[in-house]
Amino acid sequence: MEEKILYSAIQPSGNLTIGNYIGSIRNWIGLQSKFTCFFAMANMHAITVRQDPAQLRRRTLELAALYIACGIDPEQCTLYVQSQVPQHAELCWVLNSLTYVGEMERMTQFKDKSAKHAENINMGLMDYPVLMAADILLYQAELVPVGQDQTQHVEIARDIAIRFNNRYGETFRVPEAFIVKQGAKIMSLQEPSKKMSKSETENPNASVYLTDDRDTIIRKFKRAVTDSGSEIRFSEDKPGISNLLTIYSAYRGVSVGDAEREFEGKGYGEFKLAVGETVADALAPVQAEQKRILADKAYLSGILAAGAERAFKAARKTLSKVYRKVGFYQGD
Ligand code: TRP
Repeated sequence: MEEKILYSAIQPSGNLTIGNYIGSIRNWIGLQSKFTCFFAMANMHAITVRQDPAQLRRRTLELAALYIACGIDPEQCTLYVQSQVPQHAELCWVLNSLTYVGEMERMTQFKDKSAKHAENINMGLMDYPVLMAADILLYQAELVPVGQDQTQHVEIARDIAIRFNNRYGETFRVPEAFIVKQGAKIMSLQEPSKKMSKSETENPNASVYLTDDRDTIIRKFKRAVTDSGSEIRFSEDKPGISNLLTIYSAYRGVSVGDAEREFEGKGYGEFKLAVGETVADALAPVQAEQKRILADKAYLSGILAAGAERAFKAARKTLSKVYRKVGFYQGD
């Protein structure tokens, strides 16, 4: 039986947080052996908000090295940089003609980002979901593991695929969001009602980055906002403690219930220190490995070249079919 195809991507903008790790990367590790996986550095999506070019280039490589350091096996899956595969932009253009301005204007992320970057509401920002649909549909992906905030984008990709298939005949596999299990969403350490963000600028203690050193990690957890009361229990009225329990259980590989029992009768201070130490211990080897990979430029660029080539072949096949269906002359 042919393996199902799975597609996901992360933008190389901002520093990745433990939320990105727990919510995305960690889950991908277990999926690589079960599916044919494509993982991209979505640098074309990243430029829809202003980026410093040197930083974007550096972060793209850092992200690739981090994927590998976390356990993504570039032999087993296709790890590549989006802009190295021109079919993404090409398919996006075709799909643009099947997408309505009104539906893009209604997208939650577009509205949020427009409010946040009111001085730069560019066409790319509005087209973001169509490029994402192109990413997914190019590889005939069936499964798209994403966080809750990206499900609307996967819905649109489904709509566009169905629309195209209806108009031009069966061409795209209709993808589905693959929501990772509960507890995947990691909240800000300072405002536990908000998602932990990789582009947090207001409060440097709110996000724990995968590149933070041990002291910084422990300090951030010590300063984490907790709730009234003193019990270490997962519940809706304890968003701060619940978030810390989620983080602890994810990094420890234990259930939230086990974590609660472990800290029964203990104080917030002791608990926060334990969470900080657990995260710091877990990140140290990953950081060392990422550093080693980044220093080996020939290895990393070789991996990305091979990934781009594999992605290119798969993408070319779909795009050629699309061009045929829509009536684009492709030579005789
Ligand atoms: N929009 C996604 C995010 O910010 C990143 C992304 C780009 C993506 N293309 C994708 C995710 C295709 C899944 C599939 O998280």
